[in-house]
Amino acid sequence: MPIPNQRHLFSIPESHAYLNTAYMSPLMHSVVSAMESGLQEKVSPWNYKAEQFFTDVEIARGLAAQVFGTAPQNIAIVPSASYGIQTAANNLPLRAGQNILVLENQFPSHIYPWQAKAAEVGAQVRILPIPKDDDWTRVVLSAMDAKTAVVAVPHTHWSTGATLDLLAIREALDAEGGALVLDLTQSLGAQVFDASVVRPDFAVAATYKWLLGPYSCGFLYVDPKWHGGRPLEENWINRAGSEDFGGLTRYQSDYQSGAVRFDMGEKSNPAQMRGAWAALRQILDWGVESIAETLLLKTKQLESELEPLGLRAAKIRAPHYLGLRVDGVKQTSLPEGLLQTLADQHIYVSARGPALRVTPHLYTSDKDIDRLIEALKRAL
Ligand SMILES: Cc1ncc(COP(=O)(O)O)c(C=O)c1O
Repeated sequence: MPIPNQRHLFSIPESHAYLNTAYMSPLMHSVVSAMESGLQEKVSPWNYKAEQFFTDVEIARGLAAQVFGTAPQNIAIVPSASYGIQTAANNLPLRAGQNILVLENQFPSHIYPWQAKAAEVGAQVRILPIPKDDDWTRVVLSAMDAKTAVVAVPHTHWSTGATLDLLAIREALDAEGGALVLDLTQSLGAQVFDASVVRPDFAVAATYKWLLGPYSCGFLYVDPKWHGGRPLEENWINRAGSEDFGGLTRYQSDYQSGAVRFDMGEKSNPAQMRGAWAALRQILDWGVESIAETLLLKTKQLESELEPLGLRAAKIRAPHYLGLRVDGVKQTSLPEGLLQTLADQHIYVSARGPALRVTPHLYTSDKDIDRLIEALKRAL
């Protein structure tokens, strides 16, 4: 069932058409209150108990696990997508002569760690070219060979909104060997994903976009087979027995169990964690399937009304995401100053690569959609 408009949960002025979730989602009132309550803990630290270093974190971990489709022990708390990808790169085996597959124009957080790792050992990062038919799954499957050590891809391409069949890629990797590392920052929370089905080796999502959470916060799924790996930092709170603050200098070589060893330092920030869990709770309450279904209706309407203007969406695309390429008779690229022209009318979208990125959410009203369409008709 589509979800009715949820704008009342956010602080978006009526005059603003915000269709830029892929840039940064606005915070809901409930998230702001949760963050404020966390901030208050630092106003009066004499009330903040040692066990609270763990309680908010574990609630957030548990909720994130549900969104990923896994158990809490497979989730680590990270500050960014790049932190999660670096953790993956540090832990996956790679030898000279092997290759890592990535997509053309992939987001840099999912490129730089692989370039550095490949350079270190004499492996190759193969950048797969954008397919004309948007069929990335075919491109990845046909590029895989016996030397493919890692397929490092998103679920949805951040510029075009083209989506990949992750299960097909996983199954091909099962046959060939090789690891699957996913950046889900532009999809988790709005596109159905189930780690128990896709079985990535590592998968990360920052919370500040489709997870509707705060900035500097993210979650990393780590498959149990990598739970014995090396964290990016050797922080005290991830070691066994860290709950006993009096015993911290009885240094431990063991870590806390599961993916907890990969948690970032100072994870116990109550403002961050409560903000994340308030957002995750709301997402779980709506249900990702229903969010996706609702956003598909909005993007379909935009797609069909903008196509006659020469704006073409990816043929195989995610439900929540339009990366519209200019394919028109009058123009072949976005007109100079288009984003500013739209922003002057309080209509917010973005441009990434050659694409006009239009990414609504449950706060997007029919009026917002009409305003964008009318403004683009005037501008193109
Ligand atoms: C696909 C993708 N991954 C990751 C990020 C953010 O990366 P990080 O958390 O490393 O800053 C973005 C931000 O635009 C993105 O589009």
